[in-house]
Amino acid sequence: EDEDLPKGLRQLKLPPDKTSNSNKILQFQRNRTTRIKLDRKSLNFTPSCEFTGREAVSAVTRAQSQVCKQRIVNVTCLNQQGLLYPERIQSLCPHSPGFIDKPVSLGCFKDDKTLRILSGYYHVFKGNNSPERCAFLCLQSGYLYAGTEYSVECFCGMEKPSQLKRLPDSSCNMKCSGNPKYSCGGYLTINVFWTGIQKFKAQEARNTSIDGESEKPARIAYLLTVNGRASRQVKRLINILYHPSHLFYIHVDARQDYLYREMLEVEKSCKTNNIKVARGENLRHASIWGGASLLTTLLKSAQQMLAHHHHWDFLVNLSESDFPIKNNVQLTQFLSLNKGMNFVKSHGREVQRFITKQGLDKTFVECETRMWRIGDRKLPDGIQIDGGSDWVALSRDFVEYVANPNPDTLVTDLLKVFKYTLLPAESFFHTVLRNSKFCNTYIDNNLHVTNWKRKLGCKCQYKAVVDWCGCSPNDFKLEDFSRIRNTIDRNLFFARKFESIIDQRIIDRVEEWLYSENLNKTVNAKGYDAYWQSLYHAADLSPLTDDAQLTVSNSLARLIFHKLNVNYKDVRLLETTAYFKQNQFVGILILAEVTLQQQTVQQKRIESLVYPRHNFSTSREWLGKIQSLSVNTDYDQKEKTFRNLIGSIGPYSYPVLSYEFDTGITTPQNLSILWVDPYGRLAEVNYIQLEEMTLTGYVKPQFNEHLVVGTWHLFLVADSLLVAKMNFLVTPLAYWKNKKIDPEKAKEVNNASVDSYHITEEMNKKWSHLLNSVNFYERTIHMTDNEIKINSNLDQWIDKLVQKHYEIDKICNVNDTELKLQKCINTYWSSLSPDTKADINNLC
Ligand code: UDX
Repeated sequence: EDEDLPKGLRQLKLPPDKTSNSNKILQFQRNRTTRIKLDRKSLNFTPSCEFTGREAVSAVTRAQSQVCKQRIVNVTCLNQQGLLYPERIQSLCPHSPGFIDKPVSLGCFKDDKTLRILSGYYHVFKGNNSPERCAFLCLQSGYLYAGTEYSVECFCGMEKPSQLKRLPDSSCNMKCSGNPKYSCGGYLTINVFWTGIQKFKAQEARNTSIDGESEKPARIAYLLTVNGRASRQVKRLINILYHPSHLFYIHVDARQDYLYREMLEVEKSCKTNNIKVARGENLRHASIWGGASLLTTLLKSAQQMLAHHHHWDFLVNLSESDFPIKNNVQLTQFLSLNKGMNFVKSHGREVQRFITKQGLDKTFVECETRMWRIGDRKLPDGIQIDGGSDWVALSRDFVEYVANPNPDTLVTDLLKVFKYTLLPAESFFHTVLRNSKFCNTYIDNNLHVTNWKRKLGCKCQYKAVVDWCGCSPNDFKLEDFSRIRNTIDRNLFFARKFESIIDQRIIDRVEEWLYSENLNKTVNAKGYDAYWQSLYHAADLSPLTDDAQLTVSNSLARLIFHKLNVNYKDVRLLETTAYFKQNQFVGILILAEVTLQQQTVQQKRIESLVYPRHNFSTSREWLGKIQSLSVNTDYDQKEKTFRNLIGSIGPYSYPVLSYEFDTGITTPQNLSILWVDPYGRLAEVNYIQLEEMTLTGYVKPQFNEHLVVGTWHLFLVADSLLVAKMNFLVTPLAYWKNKKIDPEKAKEVNNASVDSYHITEEMNKKWSHLLNSVNFYERTIHMTDNEIKINSNLDQWIDKLVQKHYEIDKICNVNDTELKLQKCINTYWSSLSPDTKADINNLC
């Protein structure tokens, strides 16, 4: 499970032709045979070729801009004419087999657990260099020694790897002999029974030539490709990895304003100049998941890192969700003994299977921050395709070779192939390594442990960004610690993924373990058991904030000043932050200010801790049986949690109900879930059956696109008895695309009333007794159109609703002496209070 095998990707079904509106989440249809035609009238250019390929036509149709459509068309035409990249690429690996029926010279190689023959997957056994002989040579050379075992897997069949069949025994030669069309190959795996770094070192010491340079401790250049808003976790990562001899180069996704500003602060605080942030259009990319842009990012960043005056020996790339699982001394020691080697993790499966699963036999085009699938392709002959994980540790020599701005033909040709490849970073480096003169520096270990839980992580969650179903590893949790500890003897130095908002305790545990000598200092540091993650910052232009979130945050800012009886006119929301304590989400922090114009202009800035109210009750019989019930948006199926921490739902949101029942519940149990709108109308009914194994789960109601604003109600009914009820707010919007909404738009968005729901008469009748028994607030007050529409009234209306769903608790004072409030810096909860683990001020 912890291996970085192919992502178990499968093809995403393409939408039917009428789905030209790609703003919506695409509905991917099942019927593969539907034919779609290119609507030439929708193009303002003439396609350079005739094409009918279903995938390409679908991509052109779905793309929004003419620029993107044209790019897709051009690449499709070049692909059809076979002009995208050469048909054949010459491998430069001295012992590359090229063809499987030629005797090849085999190499031997070191790694922590397995030793593999270098020259690839298929080898002919006859001749001098049989795997057996290779193993013997390896033994003699000292890379292997007693306690080594090797196994040979045997294949037989036609020349193409996909046509080779694995044989149950090693009777390969016998079975194939006599038929000139058939050839035989073997795959050698050598299992080594030594473990532990010490042994590795002892072994290595014998093989390392002793010169001045190789004696120096290895210097690492970390390439951090980061995305999202977890700036404090990234700072914590830099804190734990930091050493003056290492270089840190940080690439922030071009769309992430907040994280970029935060990283610039990190760079500024480091006077020693070994933390650098990528700047400017040429060096910052919108590196979408699985996109060709991620490879561009890695290569461009590598060039910058090479140009940096700080010398380094290895490039190690990490993301915001990686964390070390060995300390800096251990990592440096290991790399010092392995200078010149390249650490990448291979899929470890049959190559053809990897190629199909990974979509390597498809052409993809990146534009409009999406990877469009445009059709099948034939990969070039003459080279070995390899891939696995895109987390790597590469030697300086290899980086100089592969990221050279004027690369040789092999790299140039492979770059052409990988420019149109999904998840290119997962195969490009492997393939270059395998086929270049560096082939004998390949080590099948990327130094990483990855927390794959494919049942949870493969939910096709990237379909909004790629025409493919991708998978993601899960976050580690405290209960996984023994798994991490068990890697103590293995050459594994990093793990992924970690997210403080999901589980910070595991990160704490790992850090305490790695640096136990600092335990007291670490654990007692200020803010240790707390975590803050930004949700909004007033300086953000990109990405756009959710309008419902902005509406609720602004409303809370007004309500806070109102509570303080401060006579204000304009309240300015500065920041919204999610606050966690003891590994639990506590609430939302609102940082805001007002400008008072009395004799002098005065600014008052405060921060407040706000709790979302859980307007939830259960019948007496069901007390304690429901552990949690919540309605929210952005449900993450992989981590089984909502990502929308403020819990704001707007008229265009897709609410989801998540539930967790107690194990003591009598099962099976049928439950009906009634969704009732603010006017008391039944909008949807869902049914769930609780079984022993399905006590937690989620339900997605099917609503019309536009939700009626106001307080909604949810009823849980078991055996026609109401067992629980809760309500949730669908907030009217005060913002549209992050700007103050204009009255016209406000009317359209906030005033809509849905004429009918997909509810039958019969259903309404069935549940009428329940619906009539509840006094619906919105039904009882008469709200005229004018009250809703106009701006200040709109704010009042929103504040009234928000007040019912959020509770303002603590307030602190940032800069004012008049307000009789605690200073924010002295609280334990404010985003301005000390947080040592993420404090980089005294780092360098
Ligand atoms: C999985 C694999 O583990 C990883 O090797 C592969 O690159 C993508 O799929 P996953 O957790 O799904 O990882 O991806 P994630 O770690 O979120 O993103 C991969 C890298 O791309 C990170 O460095 C991330 O910062 C970056 N990224 C992702 C962006 O820069 N922008 C985005 O919009 C998404």
